[in-house]
This record gives sequence, C-alpha cells and structure tokens, in this order.
Amino acid sequence: RRGIIMYSEKVMDHFSNPRNVGEIENASGVGTVGNAKCGDIMRIYLDIDQDGVIKDCKFKTFGCGAAVATSSMATELVMGMHINEALKVTNKAVMDALDGLPPVKVHCSLLAEEAIHAALWDYAQKHNIIIEGLEQPK
Ligand code: FES
Ligand code: FES
Repeated sequence: RRGIIMYSEKVMDHFSNPRNVGEIENASGVGTVGNAKCGDIMRIYLDIDQDGVIKDCKFKTFGCGAAVATSSMATELVMGMHINEALKVTNKAVMDALDGLPPVKVHCSLLAEEAIHAALWDYAQKHNIIIEGLEQPK
C-alpha cells in the first residue's frame, strides 16, 4: 500500500466542499505564500473592521487537496476573530481542527499559517500599525 495516503473525513469534506473560496475586493490585508518544492500557492484575503475583528475571510489556493482543505479550515477558524487571536492560529490548530494530516502533508498546513500571517502583515503595513508578535513574512 505504499504511496496511498489516508485522509480524515474532515479533510475530505473541506477538500470536496471548500468554504470561503474567492476574493475580497479592497481587502484590508492579502497574503500570498508558496512552497517552492511542490509549487503550491495559497492566497488569503482578510476584511478587518475598525476594532481589529476579522469580518470576512476568503482564499484562493492553487495546490493539493490538503492545501485546499487547510485553507478552507483556516478561513473558518479566523472568521470573527480579533487579529491578535488570529495571529495565534497555528498550523497545528488547523490540522487538529481537520482531525490531522498525514506527515507528508504537514507542510500544506504550514502554508495556511503563513498565509494568515502574510495577510495580517499586509494589513499592518497598509494601516501603519504594529501587531505585537507578528514577524515580517519571508
Ligand atoms: Fe502536486 Fe501539490 S505537489 S498538487
Ligand atoms: Fe505542497 Fe500540499 S503538497 S501544499
């Protein structure tokens, strides 16, 4: 059975029926990240209100099923969160919410965490604010 990867039901669900796919026009922050090895690309759009609460979140992912599922879950998790909370959403939190990912697919969830951070960074740059604990994306 070499080469066969087993996915959780939640991963399959978010892959087949991804939530929050699309773009946000004039988004407060946009983050695009990629993985050079597999060539997958993920973009996350955030709409953030005056109080720093994420009112809307959408994504576009050109990539594998696990990347689509983690983007979908990541957008669901950060929706309605304050930016300080969203900053703490790790790839592990996204994986846990999906009931896990196979080891070879962990890097896909890392893209989701990085894309959120990149979008928050973009937001902070545009609004001239500093988000404590947020580092400039590579
Ligand atoms: Fe083939 Fe990501 S490596 S889709
Ligand atoms: Fe690279 Fe999934 S294989 S993001």
